[in-house]
Amino acid sequence: MRDMSDIRNIVILTGAGISAESGIDTFRAGANGGPSLWEQHRVEDVATPEGFARDPELVLRFYDMRRAAIQTKKPNPAHFALARLDAQWPGELVIITQNVDDLHERAGAKRVLHMHGEHLNAWCTSCDVRSPWTATLIERPACPVCAARTLRPDVVWFGEMPYGMDAIYAALGTCDLFVSIGTSGAVYPAAGFVQNAVELGADTLELNLERSQGSRMFHETRLGRASELVPAWVEEILM
Ligand code: OAD
Repeated sequence: MRDMSDIRNIVILTGAGISAESGIDTFRAGANGGPSLWEQHRVEDVATPEGFARDPELVLRFYDMRRAAIQTKKPNPAHFALARLDAQWPGELVIITQNVDDLHERAGAKRVLHMHGEHLNAWCTSCDVRSPWTATLIERPACPVCAARTLRPDVVWFGEMPYGMDAIYAALGTCDLFVSIGTSGAVYPAAGFVQNAVELGADTLELNLERSQGSRMFHETRLGRASELVPAWVEEILM
């Protein structure tokens, strides 16, 4: 691992684990038996374009509930620590999040890339414009731009291309340090970023509650709660 003083460009990947202590369920039930977001539904039913075509009401209702729920949640110390790092880090930095909540932004982070979309956007499949959205979609409201009643959640479903991949691979190509926080390493392409980073010569650090599917790829893994590990690591790197 490099000396901390040699690190200039940082890529941070976050997953559901960073929002768990804010009360948002993770996707996969943990080894410790935590709740799972999909528990009530099959992933194919609520997180694929085919599921949406088959039963749009079920899918819109599911995301309406999620959209309403995240608006009642608050950022936790891990989100605030990353926002502080973002504000104070003089080099390149990007927080690539797989999360569709807005807790990084509400904590004050600016350099955030939502590779799996955002709950608080609606995407019009007629005019292809994404509009800020906090209300429900089940009543098929009109798109604020083109008035078509073809708004869907702006969430990347299985079988769809994640957002910002060119920018992500460019950032991985120049980073000195890749840090993964609260993600199980089960879903590609995000699960492959650590390998890209290693191959391109970056140091890699994982902060997670338990060992993940990708742990063996990292130079270092620290196990514990994000609300404790992330502020401690940010303190270290800003020294
Ligand atoms: P997962 O639910 O797969 O994994 C969450 C990880 O966070 C697990 O490894 C937990 O051990 C860890 N964790 C839980 N609580 C934690 C805490 N308090 N502190 C630190 N770590 C904790 O969620 P993701 O890896 O984000 O994609 O899932 C990746 C993608 O799978 C999601 O973005 C979503 C889903 O399908 C799409 O919907 C496209």
